[in-house]
Amino acid sequence: MKGLILSGGKGTRLRPLTFTQAKQLVPVANKPVLFYGIEALVEAGIKDIGIVVGDTRDEIKAAVGDGKKWGIRIQFIEQEAPLGLAHAVKISESYLGKDSFVMYLGDNILKSGIKSLVEEFQERKPNSLILLTEVPQPQMFGVAELKEGKVVRLVEKPKKPMSNLALVGVYMFDSHVFEAVKAIKPSWRNELEITDAIQHLIDQGYDVHPHLVTGWWKDTGKIEDILEANRLILESITGQIEGSVDSTSQIKGEVIIEKDVLVRDSIIRGPAIIGAKTEITNSYIGPFTSIQDRCKIIKAEIEHSIVMEGSEIRDIGSRIDESLIGREAKIYKSPPKPSAYRLVVGDKSEIGVK
Ligand code: G1P
Repeated sequence: MKGLILSGGKGTRLRPLTFTQAKQLVPVANKPVLFYGIEALVEAGIKDIGIVVGDTRDEIKAAVGDGKKWGIRIQFIEQEAPLGLAHAVKISESYLGKDSFVMYLGDNILKSGIKSLVEEFQERKPNSLILLTEVPQPQMFGVAELKEGKVVRLVEKPKKPMSNLALVGVYMFDSHVFEAVKAIKPSWRNELEITDAIQHLIDQGYDVHPHLVTGWWKDTGKIEDILEANRLILESITGQIEGSVDSTSQIKGEVIIEKDVLVRDSIIRGPAIIGAKTEITNSYIGPFTSIQDRCKIIKAEIEHSIVMEGSEIRDIGSRIDESLIGREAKIYKSPPKPSAYRLVVGDKSEIGVK
């Protein structure tokens, strides 16, 4: 069995971060979202993964490499435009050949991984296995209608959802899926929808097996989902201190402090992770915070947030909460006069002031 990870797309809902970075490389607990998908496939025993890439191909290739770091083989498949998930399958036919495969959307994270699901697929041998989970806003997803445990209908982002069962971004197929992706027509958003391809399989009498996911699942397409995924991943970390923490600092709960970190006169309350070469001075780092490498947090308080590589936060009067701060950003106190906000803000940024 092979893996197919989709890592194209423009990530418009994650602007401004995605003006300069692929959405699949945004870090959750200091690891790119995409790596959670790769590791889930590796854990399920998959050794060959094709990654479909688009405009952000160079960045994705540089971050992932050839797969050696996971002991597997990775190949990149170029998609000339984001023409849909089923289009990505169509252009991957020569890579996938006659093998069955797991398709994994590169911005999804599933708590319990996919090992048991891959085993279920290999034992039962349906033509497709889809993952479903109950969500509060099904109209944001592909939605499934079941009758007596069988999938009867799938609709992509329906205005009036037939159920609260959303399609999770992990699917398994045998090679019959190529008939389906060739037969369907583009949707109103001009994409070949995988949801329509699976409906085609059902209409042709193929066996599409639904599996209800019980553990948490996150599609990290929006900022609040990234922060939530960060919270969920940090909940299960085990603390480990490699960097240096002075005697006036306190570390409470599960906190990972990587190499060459300096913590001085500060409180870190886990779960939290502090990336290599970061400096934390005279500050408070609260629960569910991930700070990446080479940051400086000085005289500041922050919690429930993600701070990406090389950023600096200094002398901030109030606590920063529920924030996502991009790479090499600087947040500091302005001089006392004039009493005003001084901002250099990129396109589509969002700043909440008191
Ligand atoms: C895609 C699929 C949708 C599925 C979702 C899961 O949506 O089209 O059916 O429920 O992923 O993450 P998109 O992220 O393209 O809006």
